[in-house]
Amino acid sequence: MKKVILAILATAFALFLALPNLSWAQEDVYKAKCAGCHGADGKGTAAGLKMGAPAFSSPTVQNATDAQLVDYIENGGPQKKATHAFANRGVSPADAAKLAAYVKTLK
Ligand code: HEC
Repeated sequence: MKKVILAILATAFALFLALPNLSWAQEDVYKAKCAGCHGADGKGTAAGLKMGAPAFSSPTVQNATDAQLVDYIENGGPQKKATHAFANRGVSPADAAKLAAYVKTLK
C-alpha cells in the first residue's frame, strides 16, 4: 500500500514539474518575437511605447475579441500595418491564437 501511495505521489510530482513547462511554450514565442516592443509584462518597452504600442492591460486590448487580436498579430489589424503582420515572420495562425489568449493574461 505504501508503495502505491509513493508511486502516486511521485507521478503527481512529475506532472507538477512538467505541465507548467509545456504551457509556457507560448511564453517563449512571446519573448522571442513580441517582448522587444511589448515587454515581458505586456506594459510596453520604451521603444514600443514610442511607436504607440498599447499596454495589454488597457481596455483597447482587454475588450478586443480573440479574432481581432489574432488579425492584429497575423495581418497588422484593420489598417494592415505591414510592420505588425507577423504571419510573414514565422507566427503561424495556431501560434497567433495562443498569443492572443496569452496577451490578455498580461494585465
Ligand atoms: C516592432 C515592435 C513590435 C513588435 C515586435 C510587436 N508589436 Fe504588437 N504592437 C506594436 C505597436 C507599435 C502597436 C500599436 C500601434 C499600431 O497600431 O501599430 C502594437 C499593437 C499590438 C496589439 C494591440 C492590438 C489592438 O487591439 O489594438 C497586440 C495584441 C499586439 N501588438 C500583439 C503583439 C504580439 C503577440 C507580438 C509578437 C508576435 C507583437 N505584438 C510584436 C509594436 C510591436
